[in-house]
Amino acid sequence: MEKQKVHYSDLGLSNTKEMFSKAMAGKYAIPAYNFNNLEQLQAIVTACIETNSPVIIQVSKGARSYANETMLRCMAMGAVQMAREAGSAIPICLHLDHGDTFELCKSCVDSGFSSVMIDGSHLPFDENVALAKKVVEYAHQFGVSVEAELGVLAGIEDEVSAEHSTYTKPEEVEEFVRRTGVDSLAISIGTSHGAFKFKAGQPVPPLRFDILEECEKRIPGFPIVLHGASSVVQEYVALINQYGGNLAGAVGIPEDQLRQAAASAVCKINIDSDGRLAVTAKIREYFAKDPKEFDPRKYLGEARKELIKLVKHKNEMVLGSAGKA
Ligand code: G3H
Ligand code: 13P
Ligand code: ZN
Repeated sequence: MEKQKVHYSDLGLSNTKEMFSKAMAGKYAIPAYNFNNLEQLQAIVTACIETNSPVIIQVSKGARSYANETMLRCMAMGAVQMAREAGSAIPICLHLDHGDTFELCKSCVDSGFSSVMIDGSHLPFDENVALAKKVVEYAHQFGVSVEAELGVLAGIEDEVSAEHSTYTKPEEVEEFVRRTGVDSLAISIGTSHGAFKFKAGQPVPPLRFDILEECEKRIPGFPIVLHGASSVVQEYVALINQYGGNLAGAVGIPEDQLRQAAASAVCKINIDSDGRLAVTAKIREYFAKDPKEFDPRKYLGEARKELIKLVKHKNEMVLGSAGKA
């Protein structure tokens, strides 16, 4: 059987256009939560319905192959229907996180994604421009939004890795945006992916808000994206370590810095690691306390409950997206 071509609007999904213009005007950020499985998606959507928050549900290349692309599209459609049946009109965007090739982005556009990221941040400037432009030319025919990245975050970005971060050069952003036609731009101002963002026991270096401001000046009103924005919630790290895990020294971005970013031109904040930590902490705790249990609904149910709590907290207290749908 041939793969069906589907447009995102047929799945009830939204692109990022209106979401970002409202976020820019209202001085908050749209949460972009990564998911790989049913419980994560249920939790994200439930929490966003309950807080009346717009949401970007995003999948990496790895998540897409883990979940199967057709299954994934149907899950996203199910998430929209679940929201509507609950009487909620929250806009939901399905986004490809860290797409690494034109072909992958095209395949996502063709299979119902409403937004894609082409991550050419590791490429020389002109190659990054050319790749992003090619994706924009294809995606925009279908109204699909495109995010690109300038500057390199420390840590592992799916298959793009960089030992040390290279901050975004503000003098490059205007030309990049003009030549590519992208809808949003991820920048590097000191965040990084994963649970080990900074050296344990040392003061957390503040984000480079000066670079962010310089970028804003050069592309006024243009949506900026922050990757690697998990706070690495210490309560989860402690639970994981208490119940047999070993995440000693895991640290993330303090919430007040994310609040400051959300009130600026940063319109999208990416969170994956905090969700992973919440799920892992609750499952470890469950297994330690009830070693006889083997019904996945029990321990995954607890993990889902915690993830709902986390997402509500982020929307209400950090990103400011609650009540903005
Ligand atoms: O930035 C990367 C995301 O956290 C996705 O990670 O490639 O392990 O799914 P992943
Ligand atoms: P964290 O690892 O900080 O959650 O970042 C996630 C991310 O940027 C996904 O693209
Ligand atoms: Zn990222």
